[in-house]
Amino acid sequence: MKPVLLLACLLLPLAGPAAELPHLRAQGSAKQLIVDGQPFLVRGGELGNSSAEPDYLRRFWPKLKAMNLNTVVAPIYWDVIEPAEEKFDFAMLDGLLADARAHDMRLVLLWFGSWKNSMSCYAPAWVKADQARFPRAQDSAGRGLEILSPFHPENRDTDARAFTALMRHLKSVDPQHTVIMVQVENEIGMIPEARDRSPEAERAWAAPVPTALMDYLAKHRASLAPELAATWNAAGGKTAGSWAEVFGSTPASEEVFMAWYFAAYVQTITAAGKAELALPMFANAALIRPGYQPGQYPSAGPLPHLIDVWRAAAPALDFIAPDIYFQNFSHWAQAYTRSGNPLFIPEALRSPEAAVNALYAFGQLDAIGFCPFAIESNTEPAAGYLAASFDLVRQLTPLLAEKQGRGVTAGFLQESLESKQPQQVRMGKWIMRASFERAAPPQLADGLAVVIGAENSALAAGGRAGTAPAGGLMIQLGADEFLFAGIGLTITFASTEPGSQAGILSCAEGRYENGEWKHLRWLNGDQTHQGRHVRLEPGRFALQRVKLYRYR
Ligand code: DGJ
Repeated sequence: MKPVLLLACLLLPLAGPAAELPHLRAQGSAKQLIVDGQPFLVRGGELGNSSAEPDYLRRFWPKLKAMNLNTVVAPIYWDVIEPAEEKFDFAMLDGLLADARAHDMRLVLLWFGSWKNSMSCYAPAWVKADQARFPRAQDSAGRGLEILSPFHPENRDTDARAFTALMRHLKSVDPQHTVIMVQVENEIGMIPEARDRSPEAERAWAAPVPTALMDYLAKHRASLAPELAATWNAAGGKTAGSWAEVFGSTPASEEVFMAWYFAAYVQTITAAGKAELALPMFANAALIRPGYQPGQYPSAGPLPHLIDVWRAAAPALDFIAPDIYFQNFSHWAQAYTRSGNPLFIPEALRSPEAAVNALYAFGQLDAIGFCPFAIESNTEPAAGYLAASFDLVRQLTPLLAEKQGRGVTAGFLQESLESKQPQQVRMGKWIMRASFERAAPPQLADGLAVVIGAENSALAAGGRAGTAPAGGLMIQLGADEFLFAGIGLTITFASTEPGSQAGILSCAEGRYENGEWKHLRWLNGDQTHQGRHVRLEPGRFALQRVKLYRYR
């Protein structure tokens, strides 16, 4: 054997083969995140903006574990990793990696580069202080904003150089892929006006719409987001011309223009990072408050009505993602499944509802992950509910991995307290109607009042009856067999076969261990109201496996 070959053979077992790169893989209508060769559901939490430095974060890891997280979503700050130009310091990342591994957690990194919530507050001091070299966006009065202009290659390329260094370093120190995905920038958006008015931006506004966008729109005309199609059609649906000619001179057209340039900037950065280490990468958006116009909200970010523009300009991104802080969770979550976009929620409101929103997202929308924000600050009762909900997700991961994307899972969520009608789901030859129960349950038929919270750590720790979340998910196990996971749900059944009624053949509570059902108890008497319904009691997350039958 040649000496070089011999040396390689001796070293290989020490280094070990590099783990398979995390990636997205299609299953039916879903896209799943594959980590170590297996579908991986992110039971995540995003850290508060200033909580990711290892010495500060260290005290919180046990708390993050106790909430049953498997992933921490952590910012990496440009100004910290590149304090002086081209002098990189990755101590923060290295510390995060070591601590995540010590706690058997994965990481999703957030690149706080050129933009964080529209602003350029994480740009290094040597960038901020050199406005001539790193031009800012301007308002219509010609005043500079603390927003790096996306129209300047120097801004873009300097950010891309730092991101490249980050990904190169990550590749060298993380062969086991503790980091499973990377978010590029954070909540990009133009504010307080819909478009940048710097001289360079004005020149771009007057120039022809790039052919790449026109070609994309023409090719995808039939499937464009309706809002974008409406903006384009209202201006005459032209296939060439300046931005004002093609899309009109409205806030909506200015938003399309900015989205193209923001996304093109992100494309350069993402592609440069992926050339080092091709992890799945995404961009996230702050959502729109009802009635707000472009310019009033951070406009032109990766919002669902702009998905085509972002796809056309930033094909290196694997998906776009919502930060959902609003009450109408299902509306926004659904909007981010448009045209095959996989749903990953990097930020969500840290409330008791998060626990059921997560189940809904995984069950109804084939989500690959759900992450409440400022997770290290989570308190009871929300923390206890999340821990219980994520425990169910952990138990169900092998099953969900097998079933997502195949039309055999669903979610239950009460969109608002005003939604009084039961939620109806049809699956196979059965119809399920779920109603939601947050209040103290009535006296049961066996004469005992249920004391809500007696078995529930979250409520025992301070939650009030009536404020518990209600919702869950359902998985079809066989033609007549279903699994229900959740809290505060009463489900009745009907058969789709004419002339037949639905009955409960059996109902059991249990849990999954390593993908195997472990029976705990039968629930065929009072607990199913003598066969009339299945009930996941308020205040306590549970799993029930139900067999149905037909009678006449
Ligand atoms: C959304 C941002 O992406 C986070 O970094 C943080 O600022 C939260 N908003 C605060 O609610």
